[in-house]
Amino acid sequence: MSVSSVNPAPNSTNEYYLTRQSQMESNVRSYPRKLPLAIAKALGCWVTDVEGTEYLDCLAGAGTLALGHNHPAVIQSIQDTLTSGLPLHTLDLTTPLKDAFTEALLEQLPGGKKEYCLQFCGPSGADGTEAAIKLAKTYTGRSSVISFSGGYHGMTHGALAMTGNLSAKNSVNGLMPGVQFMPYPHEYRCPLGLGGEAGVDALTYFFENFIEDVESGVTKPAAVILEAIQGEGGVVTAPTKWLKKIREVTEKHNIVLILDEVQAGFARSGKMFAFEHAGIEPDVVVMSKAVGGSLPLAVLGIKRKFDAWQPAGHTGTFRGNQLAMGTGLATINTIKEQNLAQNAQERGDFLQAEFKKLAVEFPCIGNVRGRGLMLGVEIVDERQTADHMGSLPGDSQLAAAIQTACFDNKLLLEKGGRNGTVIRLLCPLIITQAECEEVLVRFKKAIAEALVAVRGA
Ligand SMILES: Cc1ncc(COP(=O)(O)O)c(C=O)c1O
Repeated sequence: MSVSSVNPAPNSTNEYYLTRQSQMESNVRSYPRKLPLAIAKALGCWVTDVEGTEYLDCLAGAGTLALGHNHPAVIQSIQDTLTSGLPLHTLDLTTPLKDAFTEALLEQLPGGKKEYCLQFCGPSGADGTEAAIKLAKTYTGRSSVISFSGGYHGMTHGALAMTGNLSAKNSVNGLMPGVQFMPYPHEYRCPLGLGGEAGVDALTYFFENFIEDVESGVTKPAAVILEAIQGEGGVVTAPTKWLKKIREVTEKHNIVLILDEVQAGFARSGKMFAFEHAGIEPDVVVMSKAVGGSLPLAVLGIKRKFDAWQPAGHTGTFRGNQLAMGTGLATINTIKEQNLAQNAQERGDFLQAEFKKLAVEFPCIGNVRGRGLMLGVEIVDERQTADHMGSLPGDSQLAAAIQTACFDNKLLLEKGGRNGTVIRLLCPLIITQAECEEVLVRFKKAIAEALVAVRGA
């Protein structure tokens, strides 16, 4: 069957493809259960299903599609690479295209190529976090890792071991040993039950004390891995004070600080990398999703001092995807030329302010948070009693109904956080003001409909 013969059959329906998908694919399918459509085409922030219905896409390939779907610069890059005669795959051999991409990517990291070098990994985010941990162990000769509650680093055995969410871990025995979890600050659900600045201060003190306490029971780790804004964990932003302390303490103790920028990176937070908001410099930066400009790619930015690999100390066949390096380069250039970090900041600020206004009208919106175009709206049951910090219990049933109602109103978005109570938006960075207003119209309608469906009011 040729590619040209796989256009949707006339009069085909979503149901037709979803049924076939369920017959041919494993039970592991995830998104089609929440967003039941078969996609025929997509452009910018819009996706069209096989029945011709258009959806506003605020999921954007889980944040991968920084420039939205089929951006002209991305398509042009693919066409240029295809006609250039370059091999499509080169292992880790270099090409002029790879050379240009490497230089452009290094320029985005603090201090550029003077400070950092790059490692091309297997193409997924989990490949990147696995490689980063192996590097930290190699560099330090130590074996353990500190990760944080609510963190998400992928689904492979090492990455999953470092991930907070228990639902995917409970059924798999024998994950990577040696991972010590510590609490991550949470503005709305302070893990210490303190809340506000007091909670952040206590966690900041706790981290330093834990590393320095010779009776902590935990030997010095090889690495600390964290997201500067937790994505899957429910859009939780690390306070600057806490991040700075982690940087200071890890540096003092020669512990490798790994910043997982797989989701928050590439201007999504309003800066190229989310760690820049705290003014820190990580030892290792993990990049995937948007780094390949829609195509699979993962890259580590490694501070030169930490590049402890022996030649071939970490390999992987798919390290040389030329199409992805081309689209990655086109994406970096477009982000810069069109100042999309600023667009992310401005559109994100607007959306966040409007969601906060909606929270007055709909008290089931318990908390609105995030940075730039990485936004979370936490859904609560306001009929219950708030705890001593003023936080209400999450309402996962209502959150699921809101996602479904958004889908019915042709708005694609995701859920995350504890028990799936946080509605998450990862809009393409190119989203316009008019499209943001359309997101709000659809979201408001959806929330009203979901309330009727779940609570009858
Ligand atoms: C912060 C973070 N790290 C790692 C990953 C894993 O990436 P992948 O699904 O490509 O393995 C994700 C995926 O959502 C992520 O958000």
